[in-house]
Amino acid sequence: MIFQKVQSSYEQEQGAAISNVGVTLSVNMPGLESNPSSTKQESGRWDKITTLWAKTDSSKLKRIHPETLEPIGLAEQKDLHPDLDGPLSASHAKSDPKTGDLYNYNISFTPQPTYRVFRVSSATGETTILATFHATPAYLHSLFLTEDYVIVSVWNSHISPQELTKGSIVPALQPFDPSKPAKWYVVDRKYGKGLIATYDSRAFFCFHSTNAWQEPSPTDPSKTDIVAECVLFETSDVLFRLYYELLVSSSVEAQQSSKRHFSDSKITRFRLPWVPDTPISENQTATVDWAASETPPLELPTLNPTYLTRPHRYTYAVVGRGKSTFLDGIMKFDSKTKKALFWDEHAQSPGEPIFVVDPKGETEDSGVLLSVVLDGMTGRSYLLCLDAKDLTELGRAQVDGPIGFGFHGQHVPIRGVPTGDF
Ligand SMILES: [Fe+2]
Repeated sequence: MIFQKVQSSYEQEQGAAISNVGVTLSVNMPGLESNPSSTKQESGRWDKITTLWAKTDSSKLKRIHPETLEPIGLAEQKDLHPDLDGPLSASHAKSDPKTGDLYNYNISFTPQPTYRVFRVSSATGETTILATFHATPAYLHSLFLTEDYVIVSVWNSHISPQELTKGSIVPALQPFDPSKPAKWYVVDRKYGKGLIATYDSRAFFCFHSTNAWQEPSPTDPSKTDIVAECVLFETSDVLFRLYYELLVSSSVEAQQSSKRHFSDSKITRFRLPWVPDTPISENQTATVDWAASETPPLELPTLNPTYLTRPHRYTYAVVGRGKSTFLDGIMKFDSKTKKALFWDEHAQSPGEPIFVVDPKGETEDSGVLLSVVLDGMTGRSYLLCLDAKDLTELGRAQVDGPIGFGFHGQHVPIRGVPTGDF
């Protein structure tokens, strides 16, 4: 799965049918509705989906049919705004939970590595560049969003742009250097102030941000801190461990590697203290509030999406506890007690747990988790439904064959508005 994310990050121009774009999905993504290859309006449940776009860690987007999933066409971020002409971006954009506005970044390399953080308005489809700054180019799979800010954390998966011409981002990755700080670029998204502050933190690597929010600073409640949660890796070694050949091989080398796939991953909360009201140029310092060191290796963190940009308590993820060659369980982590619950069954490998909110629920964990699980005994997959409170099984829907790993999912409700990117 992550191999595909990495491998598909940079590629030659190809047709929609064979273009490898498919890590995340955007339902009714703003800004590209006028694409000429529009989808025929369907009746019934599909009328909630006007457009469906697949994304990857590049500026390329692939439109697919919401029912048949057939590829329809390709677009690029420069179709949103002509200045978004660099090759790299995040698979995981972030959507404002109230407005539906979409946020992401674009990295270009000429004449020097440049990040452009942008917003696509859900109301107008207009794309606005919120900040342009020069920084070390890096492989960044996700970013952070709070009520007032977009935060791009340039963690330590730095890349050499010259090496990208080889068709994959992996050869361009630079060795992990713990002496280089990770950089956090805080961009105002409400008042047009642009890049407002830069923070340095300990070196680390990450695929997935979970959530971020603003809160009064514990050291001075008149000031505002940003808290950002992600799944932290101590180094970027994971990028070199997840080669497909190792994932599917039964060799001793592969088995040893599989035990270490996510071996140093931890749910971690960073704190960016005292966000200034006006832009400042002096580097600030971000610190680690806590890291969940007692949990097993994990990845694909999710949460109740209605808690985006505000403090959440529960994080869900897939875990690898050494019971299979890859992933073998689903975890619910309580950030208040630091305790975890698990779902697992022998030889069952689950995919991303997608949180579906109970519209009548009153607590953060009122809802269900949906996960596509591969049954290693039968070679077939099923959609598993768990109670998000206690991870008890509510049901499963079996299919006749395997469903490939490799994709994030989206749940589209029959009633209500589909959730945006997160
Ligand atoms: Fe991802």
